[in-house]
Amino acid sequence: MKKIGILTSGGDCAGLNAIIRAVTLRAIQKYGWEVYGIHQGGHGLMKRPVGAVKLDLSFCTGNLLRQGGTVLGTTNKGDPFAYPMEDGTLKDRSEELIEGYNIIKLDAMIGIGGDGSQAILRKLAQQGGLNLVTIPKTIDDDLSHTEHSVGFMTAVDVATEALDRLQPTAASHDRVMILEVMGRDAGHIALSAGIAGGADVILIPEIPYQIEKVAHKIKSLQENGHNFALVVVSEAVGKESGEKAKIMDLSGKARYGGISHYLADCITELTGAETRFTVLGHVQRGGQPIFQDRVLAAVFGVHAVDLIAEGKFDRMVGWKNRQVVDVPILQAIEGYQAVDVKGTLVKTARGLGICFGDDDF
Ligand code: F6P
Repeated sequence: MKKIGILTSGGDCAGLNAIIRAVTLRAIQKYGWEVYGIHQGGHGLMKRPVGAVKLDLSFCTGNLLRQGGTVLGTTNKGDPFAYPMEDGTLKDRSEELIEGYNIIKLDAMIGIGGDGSQAILRKLAQQGGLNLVTIPKTIDDDLSHTEHSVGFMTAVDVATEALDRLQPTAASHDRVMILEVMGRDAGHIALSAGIAGGADVILIPEIPYQIEKVAHKIKSLQENGHNFALVVVSEAVGKESGEKAKIMDLSGKARYGGISHYLADCITELTGAETRFTVLGHVQRGGQPIFQDRVLAAVFGVHAVDLIAEGKFDRMVGWKNRQVVDVPILQAIEGYQAVDVKGTLVKTARGLGICFGDDDF
């Protein structure tokens, strides 16, 4: 009998509960193991008593597969190696987490996270000799060694639907509509949603743009009798000066947001077109996972448990050429998957006449 833990870490996305379900089903039905869901992105291991709950088969029935968010809770703050304490200091609390793992006598742990979370979990595993397997999730889809991470395709679906809804209102009012999507430093969501949603312009951080080129595209649409235009911009695209549009929270922490507002003003000034912008934000992270994310979640969950059964640790599961694979976690977190500016999707978008605001039409 083995005891395994599972946790979700970093920003949430659609499909996390589907992974938790797949892991629980496989671990109990195939191997007869006990599964513990660790609360709040692993922070549950710092709590005493340890913040974890036993997951059983009844937990897997009903809505779990379909449910957005994560029933275990998560956080993208509070690195245990530099944990922000109430008095304003930073404390290394890593040993408390390792102790938590040992208190509940785990034999292995599955960590679901993006690159940042996986790096932290791996550091903990190395330090404490913990048996770790990771599963990639992030709407940003920027992890290497997997063609997709859980959550990305649902986020693209949401952004595509937003374009479907913006198009009729843009056409009714003769407007330029700008949709700002997430993706942190990678333009994957903007690129895929832009193609799927019929964008005229896609701006991504990987391709520097000139606002005059964007204005030229919009003017040429107008001259050719198009009364509206759709622009998709990734949140990490900078202003022409290179400065990023950011929002500061009360603690002084900055995050991306607001580039669409800047672009709307520029486009109106240069083209005279009436322009509106929509910042899609966390709508891309919540809600039901679409089928692709549910399938990926199932594949990854089952394989992660099988890796533990084989005694293979320090590995991340991934998806390549329609097959599940696994790679050393270090390889996955050391790589980064930006948009390939010479790749098929960019070429396809250009082939459709979509403008990236650069010279390469
Ligand atoms: O990494 C996922 C992500 O949704 C990014 O696309 C976005 O920039 C960021 O997280 C938002 O973080 P928060 O939930 O802290 O606002």
